[in-house]
This record gives sequence, C-alpha cells and structure tokens, in this order.
Amino acid sequence: MLYIGSDHAGFQLKESVKKYLHETGIEFTDLGTHSENSCDYTVIAKELSDKVLEKDNNLGILICGTGVGMSIAANKTKGIRAACCSEPYSAKLTRQHNNANVLCFGGRVIGLGLAFELVDAFIKTPFSGEARHMDRINKISQIENYEG
Ligand code: RB5
Repeated sequence: MLYIGSDHAGFQLKESVKKYLHETGIEFTDLGTHSENSCDYTVIAKELSDKVLEKDNNLGILICGTGVGMSIAANKTKGIRAACCSEPYSAKLTRQHNNANVLCFGGRVIGLGLAFELVDAFIKTPFSGEARHMDRINKISQIENYEG
C-alpha cells in the first residue's frame, strides 16, 4: 500500500498528488491532514511511518512546507528510510540504492509537474538488491540499534 500525508503547508500539493495518483490508477491511503488549518508535521510523520512499517513493500509520501521537517521526523522511527528529494534522479536512486520507503518533498518548494515526476520515479523504481547496497542498509540498521 502507498500512504500519503502532509501538514497544512503541504495540504494543497497533497491534494494534487492524490488526483494524479487517482488518474494514474495507483491505489493509496490518505492519512491527512485534511485542511489548511495549522497542525504539527510530527504527528502525521509518525502515523505514516508506523503504517509503512506494517508490511514489506509499503511506501509513503510526506509533504510539508520544505519536506525537511517531515523527513527528519519520519527518520526517527526505526526502519524508516525517508528521503527528502527535489529532483527525480535522487528519488529514483534512493529507491535503488537506499531502499528508501518514504519520499518527502515541500509544498512551498516543488511545483506540480516536478512533484508528479518525483512520485513516479519513487514508486516505479525497485530496490536493486545488490549486495553492497544491502550491506550499507544493514549498517544503517546497526546505527539504529546501537546502544552505546
Ligand atoms: C510549517 O510552517 C513548516 O514549518 C513545515 O511545513 C515544514 O516546512 C517543516 O519542516
């Protein structure tokens, strides 16, 4: 399943991305926010991160003003690899190399056409599965589990 979420600053772009996904025939679940009323991106980032981790192959899209707050917050949940991207090359490579499971971008930064390209690149690109990338991802998990 693909999950999508935003705060108030990403709300308008989220609505446009939803329309695009719908027209493209891609199933998704919208976890809010549902208006332009001010809210904390941390709440949506946590909710979406937990949903993404429920099943292998789940992916998420998080939109705030810049994409940065959402990515910082999402990456605090163990197992989330959230990438804040502003061009499609990184959105593609973060799937291939980092097996990123959450894409973040900014409603105050990214235009519609670019947002759709980011989403396409992210959801259509599989993880390469190459040993060197797997090894580095395992090392990211070791950092998450490090207790000092
Ligand atoms: C909200 O004003 C803004 O701070 C938020 O959307 C995001 O850009 C944070 O990183």
